[in-house]
Amino acid sequence: MKHPGDTAAPGGEGTVLPEAELLARIDFLRLPRHVAVIMDGNGRWARRRGLPRVAGHRAGIASVRDIVEASARLGIEALTLYAFSRENWQRPRGEVNALMRLLREYLARELATLQEKNVRFRAIGFVEDLPPEVRRALAETEEATSRNTGMDFRIALSYSGRSEIARAARRLAEEAVLGKVRPEEIDEEAIAARLDTADLPDPDLLVRTSGELRVSNFLLWQIAYAELWVTPVLWPDFRRRHLYEAILDYQRRERRFGRVTADQEARERAAAAARRRRTP
Ligand code: FPP
Repeated sequence: MKHPGDTAAPGGEGTVLPEAELLARIDFLRLPRHVAVIMDGNGRWARRRGLPRVAGHRAGIASVRDIVEASARLGIEALTLYAFSRENWQRPRGEVNALMRLLREYLARELATLQEKNVRFRAIGFVEDLPPEVRRALAETEEATSRNTGMDFRIALSYSGRSEIARAARRLAEEAVLGKVRPEEIDEEAIAARLDTADLPDPDLLVRTSGELRVSNFLLWQIAYAELWVTPVLWPDFRRRHLYEAILDYQRRERRFGRVTADQEARERAAAAARRRRTP
């Protein structure tokens, strides 16, 4: 089946590459170390089918399962999924409750797979805002998978990038008051060490589904140099073939981190030399 956003074969003939072909094209030596995903479009997916929004969230769980498994299989070091923002508490109570219920269902059903795939699970965000039974389920899954050595899988819950940075600043201020840190020691590293992702590399690739061109307060500090990949595919339709497309696109890009590449530098030096040769 053709999905919007599918990769057409080179040559522009519009043929969709089979999933196995996409996988075969991935350069495993240049995988993004950390992939972050803004899962969006569950509501629209449901509306298009005349279903309640919650049906879209439920369908989105199959995508979560597929992407976690595919990422672990590829050998990606870390995967962070944005499941619930601090702003999402303003949604209708029924929808919030349903999301919490789905999350618990997911954790209960997926534990065996996470163990089998050697995945270490952790929640990030303002987890203390969540209902006690959800916190308990999260803590149990974290504890049960804590000794796994494969992919780090994070779910962002009651998450806000700005609040996370503010919390890091507050921690530093408290430490300064106690004399544990001197103001002149507060640098980028000190802030990064107090974020929820302190033990992970920054995301190299940020995927957003359903076509919106926003970062929606997600990992604001950490995505400073992430490559963005936006697809019109709605989250419940997102499968590993779309992840492969995102990774292939990422691998076609030249990452410069504000610098110029050695290649670019060499080209510019050659051009300058040519100009000098032409100048009498
Ligand atoms: C955005 O779609 C999606 C969410 C707010 C929730 C994501 C949740 C899941 C995929 C299921 C539960 C999660 C886990 C980790 C088991 P939207 O509702 O904003 O869609 P819309 O923009 O089309 O309305």
